[in-house]
Amino acid sequence: MQVHISPSMRRITVSTTTGFLDPMKIKGAARYLSYRCLFWTMLLLVFLLPFVFITSALVTLEGANKCSSIGCFGRKIGPRLIWKRHTAPPKVPDRYSVLLGSTIQTAAELPDSIEALVEEARMKQYDMPTLLMQLKGMVEANEERVRAAKLQEALYRHYASSGVPKGLHCLALKLTVEYSSNARARQDLPSPDLAPRLTDPALHHLVLATDNVLAASVVVASTVHNAADPEKIVFHVITDKKTYAAMHAWFSLNPLSPAIVEVKGVHQFDWLTRDNVPVLQAMETSQDMKWYYHGDHTAGTNISQYSPTVLAAYLQARSPKYISIMNHLRIYLPELFPELEKVVFLDDDVVVQKDLSPLWDMDLHGKVNGAVETCHGDDAWVMSKTFKNYFNFSHPIIAKTFDPDKCAWAYGMNVFDLHAWRQADITGVYHYWQKQNLQLNLTLWRLGTLPPALIAFDGNVHPIPPHWHMLGLGYNVKSSLESTKEAAVIHYNGQAKPWLDVAFPHLRPFWSKYVNYSNEFIRQCNILDRP
Ligand SMILES: *[C@@H]1O[C@H](CO)[C@@H](O)[C@H](O)[C@H]1NC(C)=O
Ligand SMILES: *[C@@H]1O[C@H](CO)[C@@H](O)[C@H](O)[C@H]1NC(C)=O
Ligand SMILES: *[C@@H]1O[C@H](CO)[C@@H](O)[C@H](O)[C@H]1NC(C)=O
Ligand SMILES: *[C@@H]1O[C@H](CO)[C@@H](O)[C@H](O)[C@H]1NC(C)=O
Repeated sequence: MQVHISPSMRRITVSTTTGFLDPMKIKGAARYLSYRCLFWTMLLLVFLLPFVFITSALVTLEGANKCSSIGCFGRKIGPRLIWKRHTAPPKVPDRYSVLLGSTIQTAAELPDSIEALVEEARMKQYDMPTLLMQLKGMVEANEERVRAAKLQEALYRHYASSGVPKGLHCLALKLTVEYSSNARARQDLPSPDLAPRLTDPALHHLVLATDNVLAASVVVASTVHNAADPEKIVFHVITDKKTYAAMHAWFSLNPLSPAIVEVKGVHQFDWLTRDNVPVLQAMETSQDMKWYYHGDHTAGTNISQYSPTVLAAYLQARSPKYISIMNHLRIYLPELFPELEKVVFLDDDVVVQKDLSPLWDMDLHGKVNGAVETCHGDDAWVMSKTFKNYFNFSHPIIAKTFDPDKCAWAYGMNVFDLHAWRQADITGVYHYWQKQNLQLNLTLWRLGTLPPALIAFDGNVHPIPPHWHMLGLGYNVKSSLESTKEAAVIHYNGQAKPWLDVAFPHLRPFWSKYVNYSNEFIRQCNILDRP
């Protein structure tokens, strides 16, 4: 048989090799063939092979057939022409149809590894369909395991990111004790002779609202360290009542002169009464709200019914930070700082890496809010946010009021023109929509602070270039290191905050380089630099 087929011929007529010159098949088929038949077949081959080649070459040239390889042609013509009378060609679809059926095996009966499968196949002499069924079962079982693991991971991440780490608790406690025992920790911030600078519109005012002392220390230290004119910097740090003493103690004991730092507790703002912030009161007193954000987030739900990404989003939406007053304070900036004209508002999960003074000189063209837009940019995932990402467009009120493709912008680093703000009724619109959402049982949107702000600032946003504010370091593990190095402000929005164990190790150093690890309180609380 092989004598008649020269190597070059084999190569030219690939199809005939698989179709009817495969040595294995010949062996099997030979049993059914008489020598006489074999003789005629060989004779036929001698004439037919060149013919097959020429025809298939023609077909290929003409492109008459989608199937452009000779092999393909031969598979179609070859077996039908030559073998039909003797053996039935293997029906190609049959081999795979087994994969479309449902899997019968339960995971327990399946081999654990490919090695085990091969061993089993060898022992039990599996045919192809059985082998395929086994493989399919293994792939499906693995997919299910991966899904379950991802769900579990989403839960763990949620718990790891909503708890306050021991080190941060310790720091707040030790500093609170220091505040009551050490007069130096209680000294006026800033000293009375510098107080007029707190309202001097010629200076660069920054506002930060947080209950996290370590995070505040990084934001303030990084800003001052990278400022071209640190003596122009005035930081207004707002914190809650329970953290006030610790925050004050930290900035008294670690002054960053010539920059000025003021620490204020929410209880020290006369304006911040329940009458002025009705929505906050509703959010903080409603039992439903408390349960929604602080309750057991998995009670009464079967987490395996979710897809991992949906569960992660669901848990994120119920993060207690969304009803923290710290998060809503920024909407009251004009009232909280009646003497100021222009401020830069920073979140506590940012690091400032450049001089920010150009932001105060930036012309906002009469707009209230200078912000980085998040619907276009180099990072296709992080920078893909439009209104439809934040609102429930299945709700008729949302659908008829807003454009789902409108570009969103980000909180984290905003330039606010408080003068323009006081002319526009931004807070009123914000309150109106918060109330609507509460009355509608949070069906308009879930995440608490940005969506009502997107509405309230609509038409009052001046886009600033994206290198001023890089987002996503708390959820995008693939954040570009190049862009991270270059950005003026980097923002760890997402669950992987740099002070948590779930932080991304390669992104943490941009933050931790501003933590003073030689500080006695940081050392005593075992807050360690993890490279
Ligand atoms: C949870 O849901 C999955 C799939 O929907 C189901 O197989 C499982 O039995 C459910 N578990 C409970 C405890 O209801
Ligand atoms: C909101 O939920 C409460 C019960 O939790 C229900 O009585 C009320 O009708 C709901 N309101 C709307 C607008 O769905
Ligand atoms: C979105 O709005 C629709 C219509 O009111 C409502 O049925 C649905 O539950 C809302 N979705 C969410 C996630 O609240
Ligand atoms: C770090 O803390 C120590 C002790 O509180 C202080 O002496 C030192 O100046 C601080 N370093 C920086 C860079 O702030």
